[in-house]
Amino acid sequence: MLSFSFIQPDDFHLHIRDDVLMHAVLPASAESVGRAVIMPNLTPPITDIAMALAYKARILAALPATTAFQPLMTLYLTEHLSLSTLQEVAITPDILGIKLYPAGATTNSDAGIQALESIYPLLETMEELGIPLLIHGEIPHFDVDMFDREPAFITQQLEPLTRRFPLLRVTLEHITTQDAVQFIESAPAHVGATITPHHLLYNRNHMLAGGVKPHYYCLPILKRERHREALVKAATSGNPKFFAGTDSAPHLQSKKESACGCAGIYNAPYAIALYAEIFDQALDLSLPASQKRFESFMSRHGAQFYGLPLNPTQITLTQTPVAVPIHIDTPLGPLIPIRAGEMVGWKVEKIEER
Ligand code: DOR
Ligand code: ZN
Repeated sequence: MLSFSFIQPDDFHLHIRDDVLMHAVLPASAESVGRAVIMPNLTPPITDIAMALAYKARILAALPATTAFQPLMTLYLTEHLSLSTLQEVAITPDILGIKLYPAGATTNSDAGIQALESIYPLLETMEELGIPLLIHGEIPHFDVDMFDREPAFITQQLEPLTRRFPLLRVTLEHITTQDAVQFIESAPAHVGATITPHHLLYNRNHMLAGGVKPHYYCLPILKRERHREALVKAATSGNPKFFAGTDSAPHLQSKKESACGCAGIYNAPYAIALYAEIFDQALDLSLPASQKRFESFMSRHGAQFYGLPLNPTQITLTQTPVAVPIHIDTPLGPLIPIRAGEMVGWKVEKIEER
């Protein structure tokens, strides 16, 4: 049976919510990745340093005292963020960066940014201080087609923004299109992107052909096959600008299977296994060079991008089929995980010091 070990990965984009739901979903991540970038789109959103530090304390309090898991916090960018808060963020290692949601783009984004021009002074300061800007890259206006919202954001907003702030550190989160891949490839080294397992595995037919399947609905929405193929090529290319960020985004089954279903795919318990499936299909993970590529995407590129040390631990994956349950119970009701009722091809066997 194929088995290999590599540096323990990180998750550079994760939603763990709060309170009861956080207690239910956090262990899956804390037991598999070394660090995770925690998204701030709670209600109310995490808009200042005190809120972020309190949220971090709640996360750590929900885990065993022996955990080595490190939450990397983000602040939710609003027009009210102050320059003095940015000065403080720059010297607060618990806070990795600032998350930009265009207002109305996704779950709990109403307090996000209406017009980018309004935050230019903030971006100028972030550029000076070297604070990363993590971007949900879509134009959420009704007159922009759902499937064009990422490319429209890149041409109409991101290209002008990166021209105006050429040294600003930018992560374009959960990219979904060939357009995004090309933008990142041609951008400078301090502009990178996260890629989710679901955008690497699925296209929009998985969500729409033969009936509407709400558990495939996420934002940015799944795109056509040629875009998925471009993402797989980017993720497996060895280019250090692309790295793993699961965007695991749990919503209760009742909120997903609804006349107005929530966007988000809950993938955290199977994310590493699914990334391995994708790399195995593209590169054949029995080859040591392919295992190294996988390690780079999962465990090196993101850390390097953010100037973090590599995790001191390694994990061992085996090519063991694992059955995914049809639902995962929480005190609030069931969650339907990615691949519910089907198999994943890999299993995390152990985590140990390297
Ligand atoms: O599908 C998504 N779900 N995309 C996002 O950008 C947000 C996330 C959530 O918080 O549910
Ligand atoms: Zn997200």
